[in-house]
Amino acid sequence: MKDPVRRQRALSAMGVTTWVPRRGSAALPAADALPASEAGSAPGTAVGDALDWESLAATVAACQRCELHRGRAQTVFGVGARDARWMVIGEAPGQEEDRQGEPFVGRAGQLLNSMIGALGLKREQVYIANILKCRPPGNRDPRPDEVVCCEPYLQRQIALVNPAILLCVGRIAAQNLLKTQTPVAKLRGQRHVYGPQQTPVIVTYHPAYLLRAPAEKRRAWQDLLFAQRVYAETRQDRR
Ligand code: URA
Repeated sequence: MKDPVRRQRALSAMGVTTWVPRRGSAALPAADALPASEAGSAPGTAVGDALDWESLAATVAACQRCELHRGRAQTVFGVGARDARWMVIGEAPGQEEDRQGEPFVGRAGQLLNSMIGALGLKREQVYIANILKCRPPGNRDPRPDEVVCCEPYLQRQIALVNPAILLCVGRIAAQNLLKTQTPVAKLRGQRHVYGPQQTPVIVTYHPAYLLRAPAEKRRAWQDLLFAQRVYAETRQDRR
């Protein structure tokens, strides 16, 4: 971020108190299908890839593909601009998200908003979705069978948004999207790709982790700068 005032504001919002830019670092530009009838079908069942947003949302809301539907207050589909250039992928709803039906509305959500702000964007300008649409009990990690059941929904959301870049926050999002067991620390700082469009994927820490380990915010900030760089390159490639 070129403007020092904006940069300082973004860093403060993320809780980074001291930032020493690397010498020579380039200035970054501001970042400007299952039909409802299939909702109870078995995991791994082929899914339609022609669902529009409304049918997809209705299908998710009625989903009973895994046991998580029993404990949910509601499904948490996703939120944001459906034509967003940036898409953020998280893990699964927590208690507050389950209650409100929107991803990242708790404390971690506030920090995520600051991270989005550090990219020069507002929350409404990105699309935010999770690997799972239902809350795992006690906020435990999603189980592989649950991920398999939910995967077609996220795949379809990504296809519909068709973002220029995907930002995975945290281990669960990154490992499941990229189909790897590699730890986040090693996935960071690399340009991964996803899907038939070879959409660039950048990995950073989960905001809930950053709340527990604020010293890592510095690294998260670096990841966001890297993501901006990749985004800018992607836009140039498309010209
Ligand atoms: N953590 C996530 O990964 N997603 C949410 O929606 C909330 C917290």
